[in-house]
Amino acid sequence: MKKITIAIDGFSSCGKSTMAKDLAKEIGYIYIDTGAMYRAVALYCIEHGLIEGKTINEDALQTAIRDIHISFRLNEQTGSPETYLNGEYVEDKIRTMEVSAVVSPVSALGFVREALVKQQQAMGEEKGIVMDGRDIGTVVFPNAELKIFVTASAEIRAQRRYDELKAKGETHSYEEILTNVKQRDEMDQQRAVSPLRCADDAILLDNSHLTIDEQKAWLREQFKRVTES
Ligand code: DC
Repeated sequence: MKKITIAIDGFSSCGKSTMAKDLAKEIGYIYIDTGAMYRAVALYCIEHGLIEGKTINEDALQTAIRDIHISFRLNEQTGSPETYLNGEYVEDKIRTMEVSAVVSPVSALGFVREALVKQQQAMGEEKGIVMDGRDIGTVVFPNAELKIFVTASAEIRAQRRYDELKAKGETHSYEEILTNVKQRDEMDQQRAVSPLRCADDAILLDNSHLTIDEQKAWLREQFKRVTES
């Protein structure tokens, strides 16, 4: 069967990654979480003192961006890809609230987006890819055969994030997480470069009241519809 490109965009903590990762595994496609790439750049900024509060040393980051190499390796035990920054395992570090708090301003920088979009387009050159993020259907792969835009209420997304962090032993109040979710929504939608928006030809999915299994089944149906027509 001819391989296609699948673009999944939407708000933070919508369960995009879970359904995208699962579909990719099931149909034998590559899965790329582009949020992890922006998070890795944010982590680099924190670890190299390039960010103070929310102020980024843009000149230093522009020079450093050439030396920031992000890759994914499959964890054979979990079957999930994990993020590496310059060869170092950073999958856990990039998911902390410390990184969530600064990733939006980092991802709003034009030169950061340019560098990462180039890498993402190279990863999808051969098709057979499921990529999730904010600008996949609009900027990275505007010609993707299947585009999905996922949304859910901010309160439900904050609750999912709260449960996820708690399960990992990171305790933050629900209110702190809700504030972060709302701030990121706003910054992602308002930024000048590649703001988060639903592509004209994307299918909208509000998963506020869907279980993970229901979402997965819905996505599988969309894939079948496009590939079997
Ligand atoms: O999907 P996520 O929450 O892990 O993404 C982290 C941040 O990265 C998010 O606040 C916006 C940014 N991002 C982006 O600007 N473009 C993408 N393609 C993916 C993520």
